[in-house]
This record gives sequence, structure tokens and C-alpha cells, in this order.
Amino acid sequence: MAETHPVVGWETESPVPDGYQFNAYLQARNGRLYFEDLNLASLFGQETPAVRPLPSPLEVVYLPLIRQKIAFMNQVFAEVTAEVGYTGRFYYTYASKANAAEEVIRTTLSAGAHHEMSSTIDVDIAKLMIQQGRLASDRMIVCNGFKAAGSQYAANILQLRQLHKNVVPVIEAMGELSSFISSGHSFDVGLRLKSYGHHANEKEMRAANSRFGLGLDDIWKAADYIAAAPNLRLVMYHNMVGSQIVDPEAFVRWLKPGAEVYARLRQRHDTLHIFNFGGGMPVGMTLDFAFDYHDFVRRLLTMLQETCRRYNVPPPDIMGEYGRYTTSEHGAHLFSIITAKENDSKLPWYIIDGSIMSSFPDSWALGEHFIVLPLNHLDKPFQRVQLGGITCDSDDVYPPKPSPSPLYLPVDTDGLLVGFFSVGAYQEMLGGVRGSKHCVLPEAYELIIERDHKGDYAFQILQGQTPDDVLRNLGYQI
Ligand SMILES: Cc1ncc(COP(=O)(O)O)c(C=O)c1O
Repeated sequence: MAETHPVVGWETESPVPDGYQFNAYLQARNGRLYFEDLNLASLFGQETPAVRPLPSPLEVVYLPLIRQKIAFMNQVFAEVTAEVGYTGRFYYTYASKANAAEEVIRTTLSAGAHHEMSSTIDVDIAKLMIQQGRLASDRMIVCNGFKAAGSQYAANILQLRQLHKNVVPVIEAMGELSSFISSGHSFDVGLRLKSYGHHANEKEMRAANSRFGLGLDDIWKAADYIAAAPNLRLVMYHNMVGSQIVDPEAFVRWLKPGAEVYARLRQRHDTLHIFNFGGGMPVGMTLDFAFDYHDFVRRLLTMLQETCRRYNVPPPDIMGEYGRYTTSEHGAHLFSIITAKENDSKLPWYIIDGSIMSSFPDSWALGEHFIVLPLNHLDKPFQRVQLGGITCDSDDVYPPKPSPSPLYLPVDTDGLLVGFFSVGAYQEMLGGVRGSKHCVLPEAYELIIERDHKGDYAFQILQGQTPDDVLRNLGYQI
């Protein structure tokens, strides 16, 4: 059987044919790479610039893609719900940990998403969004993460409840309940089951080694405490099983043992109505990605129907907390090739004017693959190469070590520009925004792109760090 590998870019020495579509949003046109209808090389002043020429490296934030992802998932659920006659509702929720930038949160909210959070600063972000009228009262704010009694996060959630009725703390540990019971506020609450990973049955789930969620026995106890508390109402059951699960059949199979627990809990607590499967929804980070979202939703809905029928309870409303799915594709990071180096290494080195490892930490830490394509010279011959960052770090390379994936880029490196794509989830948050970076590299400029219904673009430029910014940040008096 042929060996498969993540397809990170163009894989032959021949030029890319004109009009070639790499994925839903990247296309070759006249030797240039277009992001939808935007010629990316033009951002640097090559040909007619769409915006004033910007310096390399450059982060691109393409907000319309976030709206498209949310609309698509809502549509898939609507279609399959009608098809299988499902009686529950679907709640699309954005998991803000994937990317907490202001423009991202405001975009997910304006696209109708509910909001999920995991820490106390997240609460401050939600408060700001409420004050600005962006987080409407009908939206649920789901509070995941550790919120021990007495913690700043727990206290901040209580303050948030004064501004917004629809706050749903999801209990991770028994000790978290007391702050809400004694708060004097009414709360809809959730319970998170320790369900992370693949468990064929409840016995395996009980033995799972995960710091997230309550064990099975505690779930029942916590549900009884909530039922006994006059100000709390159990509405949500949280059952996240993993991240970037690329097989619909496996995804639903992993969720099934937890669905059985949901149905049994629902028999005893009839306020319970939301089955929250958390994150894990995959998205294309390489060009070989194929996931049938309709198939996943069909399997999920029918599994829940069948399970609930056996226990004689109504099928639940469904919530997904979409982090990577919402934001991965809207983010790209563009670089110039500053030198092509032949030093008798196994392949030529193309060196970029930035760092791969600090821009995309998952690449060196987890061996994660992302799409890499040239922005110009697509109509010229390619060769197999390796990319190197400008830092002095031996791990600052791409494809990641070790990787079976070949990377081809144009032989002509004159003015060559390259882009990393589908890097909008987690990478910036893990690498840190502003601050000091590896080998004291400054933060790149950022271009935030919007597009109206007529297809016209609007741009906002965020200045990168100056050398003085970096020095000051490190404590130098200048
Ligand atoms: C509770 C919870 N919800 C949602 C997410 C988002 O997951 P993903 O990015 O796979 O959608 C995570 C990620 O760690 C999580 O911990």
C-alpha cells in the first residue's frame, strides 16, 4: 500500500497550472497565490497593491472565513436535523481559547455563535463584549476550566452573572459547586464528565487518566447537589473526547459511552437538555484533509436518537464548542525568502525572515503540519527544499522533524514570498502576542481583512513591534 503523508503544499517539480484550486480558498492565478480574490503578493507592493505596501513578515487575519465556517456548520446541522427528524436544537459555540483576539471574538458573536471560555481574563473579555453590545442576552456564556471556590475566575463569573443571565458554569470538580450554591444568584449549570480519550465503555471511562471533568460517581452526586440547591438548575452535560478527530465514525463511537450516561442522568433530572460534545471538530490544516461533516452529524444525531429512545428520554439539544474549526483557516502568516542556501545538506535550505517555531509552536512541539505555498513564481519550476527560520535554533525548520511530507517551492527565489496557511487557531496564543520572542525577533505587522456583501475589501493594519518595543519589553532603559 502506498505510504500516505500530510500534504503540505505543491508536490512536483512542474509549475502549478493556472487556475489550480488548492483548497476552498487558495488558488493559483497568473503565477500568484490568491486567498479568495486577494492577490497575496500584492500586499507587499508587487503589482497593484490592494493596500499600502506592507513589510514582511506579515500576519493575515481573514475574518470572512470565520463567518463562512460558522454558517456552514449551522447549515449542516439544519439539513441533517430535517433529514433524520431530530427534535433537539443545535447551539454553535465558539471556544475562545483557540484565538481570543478582539476581532475574532467580535466576528464569532456577530455570526450568531454562543461563547465558551476557560479563564478569568476570558470573563473580562465577555464583560467588554456585553458592554459594547456585541454579546446579546440570548447568547449562552459557557464557563469551562478550573474555577475552584475562592478563585478569581469563580468570583469573576459571579460578577458576570450580574450583567448577563445566560451564564452556564460547567462544573469540573466537586469543590467548584459551593461558590455557585452560595452566590445568591440563580444559575443554569453544566457537569463535565471525565471522558477525554477513547473509551469503549463506562469501565474504561472510569479508569481514564484525564484531569478534565468529574468521575462517574461524582457526576451523580453533583447532579443531586444541584437538584437540591434552590438556585441551581442542571441544564448541560459536557462530554468532550478529543481534538482534531478526523474519522466521523470514530468520533461518534468515542462519544457514545458518554451519551449513555447523559440518557441515564436525564431520566433522573428532567431539567437537563443540552448534550455538549465540546471541541474536537477537525478542519483542514493540510491539503489532503477530507472530513464529511454531514456524515458526522448524521451519525451523531442518530446515535443520540437511538440512545435516548432506549432510555425513554427526549433527544437532547446539541452544543459543539468549536475552537480550531472556527479559526484555523482564517489565519495565515507570510514571509520572504531571504536566502537560498546550498551547503551539501540533503536539500537546499530556504531561509525565511521570521521564526517557524515561535510563530507555529505546534509544528516543532507536536510535529503538526500546516499548508505552505509560494505567493509568487507559481508558474515556474519547483524543487524539493527545506525551510529554515532566521533564529539560531536547530528545531526552527519545516517540515517539522521528523516528517514524511515533502515540501516543494519555486527554484527561482528572486523576491520569493511564502505563506503558512491554516495557522489561525492556537498558534498565536501559544507563541504569545507581543512580548519577547525567541532570538529577540520582533512581532510582525498584522493585516485584518474584512469583505462586504459586494465583495469589496476593507483593511486594518496593526503595526508590528519596533526594535525599541522589544528592548523596552526586556527591561532595557532606552
Ligand atoms: C472544554 C473545551 N472546549 C472546546 C475546546 C476546543 O477544542 P477544538 O479546538 O478542538 O475545537 C477545548 C480545547 O481544548 C476544550 O478544552
